[in-house]
Amino acid sequence: MTPALEFENVIAGYGDTMVLRGVSGALQQGQVLGVLGRNGVGKTTLMRALAGFIPLKEGEVRAHGANLALIPPQNRLTAGIAYAPQEDTVFSDLSVGENLRLHLKTRDMSRYRPYFDAFPRLQERAMQRAGSLSGGERKLLSFTRTLGLHAPLSLLDEPTEGVQPENIARMSHLLLARREAGAAFVIVEQNLSFLLQVADAVLVLDHGERVASGAMPAFTREKLESYLVV
Ligand SMILES: Nc1ncnc2c1ncn2[C@@H]1O[C@H](COP(=O)(O)OP(=O)(O)OP(=O)(O)O)[C@@H](O)[C@H]1O
Ligand SMILES: [Mg+2]
Repeated sequence: MTPALEFENVIAGYGDTMVLRGVSGALQQGQVLGVLGRNGVGKTTLMRALAGFIPLKEGEVRAHGANLALIPPQNRLTAGIAYAPQEDTVFSDLSVGENLRLHLKTRDMSRYRPYFDAFPRLQERAMQRAGSLSGGERKLLSFTRTLGLHAPLSLLDEPTEGVQPENIARMSHLLLARREAGAAFVIVEQNLSFLLQVADAVLVLDHGERVASGAMPAFTREKLESYLVV
């Protein structure tokens, strides 16, 4: 079976400064890969590289077997890749509803039904500027928009940052439902309880290098915590 995502020896960064120093990994359709590491080790940079937002200096990223470097940015979604960045996740000047309709070819919002049921505030605020939401609510909007796309592969950078605990529990249910349906996810997370619930495998980054990886059951919570201690 062609993996949902494969990345090999990814070297990338900003200008002449390389942040990622040869990172490799893979995941199958229907799997969730958790990316873990201390602040500033290159997690977001890895997501940008996997989403094709920054060029690779070396290495290759393949999504569903296709070399990402050959897919123009405007075609990535059609190629089955959705990306929810860590920051600037929504269009602040557009309404909540407009943010959710932006990528749809129809005005039918029924795909968002489970998300509105879980996060009623998004529906209540549909007509209001997304910029008027709290940071955590904007994260929920970004999560809803990304999962609602039903992309085969989604990249989520710290989706639970600033989100209320009861909503984090709802996020994990919604995510597991998409995983059941065969979707694949790469998720950067600091929230270990969330990661332990949703992830099949983990990749630990330190100073731009992969320092550990493997199936989730191979890691104890204590071991995962040890990777986050400064
Ligand atoms: N747009 C940018 N231009 C230049 N350097 C950047 C840029 N974004 C990040 N960096 C640098 O790259 C390094 C890795 O940052 P990155 O955001 O990938 O880390 P992170 O693991 O996601 O951190 P955090 O846990 O704080 O989100 C840092 O030294 C950071 O300062
Ligand atoms: Mg980051």
